[in-house]
Amino acid sequence: MKMGVLTFSVRLMFLILCIFINGSFSKLERLGHPVTKSDGSLDILVFGDWGRKGGFNQSLVAHQMGIVGEQLDIDFVISVGDNFYDDGLKGDTDPSFEASFSHIYTHPSLQKQWYSVLGNHDYRGNVSAQLSQVLTQKDWRWFCRRSFVLCSGMVEFFFVDTNPFVRKYFTDPEDHTYDWSNVLPRKKYISNLLRDLDLEIKKSRATWKFFVGHHGIKTAGQHGVTQELVDQLLPILEENKVDLYINGHDHCLQHIGSEGEIQFLTSGGGSKAWRGDIQPWDPKELKLYYDGQGFMSLHITHSEVKFVFYDISGNVLHQSTLSKKSKTFGLF
Ligand SMILES: *[C@@H]1O[C@H](CO)[C@@H](O)[C@H](O)[C@H]1NC(C)=O
Ligand SMILES: *[C@@H]1O[C@H](CO)[C@@H](O)[C@H](O)[C@H]1NC(C)=O
Repeated sequence: MKMGVLTFSVRLMFLILCIFINGSFSKLERLGHPVTKSDGSLDILVFGDWGRKGGFNQSLVAHQMGIVGEQLDIDFVISVGDNFYDDGLKGDTDPSFEASFSHIYTHPSLQKQWYSVLGNHDYRGNVSAQLSQVLTQKDWRWFCRRSFVLCSGMVEFFFVDTNPFVRKYFTDPEDHTYDWSNVLPRKKYISNLLRDLDLEIKKSRATWKFFVGHHGIKTAGQHGVTQELVDQLLPILEENKVDLYINGHDHCLQHIGSEGEIQFLTSGGGSKAWRGDIQPWDPKELKLYYDGQGFMSLHITHSEVKFVFYDISGNVLHQSTLSKKSKTFGLF
């Protein structure tokens, strides 16, 4: 039909125009995770701030994740960073990899693909080791990148390296050394990352768009709001109508959000917790603040996403559901 051809050429012209205006395609790696459940739904565990060779209740959290993972028949696991304390991995032969990962998350239900980003403690070690293929050869579950896009059924996850945004790691690193190889110059790294992220989210036609990173944008925890992310990242997420912002860094379980806006979820209870230093936050927005260990699950369907927070004994601390009533379609 004539009309079809016309629409196609308009689309093609628009695409060429987009490429021309934006200058290039995004360099972010894109990967897919197959949906295996017959109803198309996905079940995922999300947690962070864990690798302590089993200490500080890491093993108990792992045990409980195994039980809940089995009940939910999870598809994969997401780690929001600070994978290995205190100073990341020394190299790809560092025995902490087995001691904090392979030998801890042993439950059959956790023998699934893991997708991880890096936290600030990971940057205090050898970053290229944590990104190395050698670790995946040792334990097939391991997959860690600085930033990437994961597509699975009706959801796209935008995993973003939030570490370079935090100015004080560069200007006032205290007595820590950070491995900034392949990150410097910092400003260029950040501007390229933000441009690529914006391109990728704009391109996305997924029903659900979730952000995953280490540092928090809204948090009543010890580290507080990461102002650089509020200034530079949040406008992109708001403009592109991201549904969830998922992070760790603060060693707590937390849900901050208002109806119709991005929901901010912190799942940083993978091991050491109980700092006891919650900061004031608007009680109308703060739906959960739990100072202790635990983790979060996500159940995703076309019309709903349910997130549930669990403590170390598997008790449900809080749960909430987001619904998609109507989806507006873009030009493509
Ligand atoms: C570990 O969990 C137990 C049981 O909930 C709790 O009593 C204990 O204080 C926790 N230990 C640490 C180091 O958080
Ligand atoms: C970092 O780890 C990689 C992979 O194990 C290794 O090749 C490299 O030499 C390490 N770098 C340093 C500074 O130790």
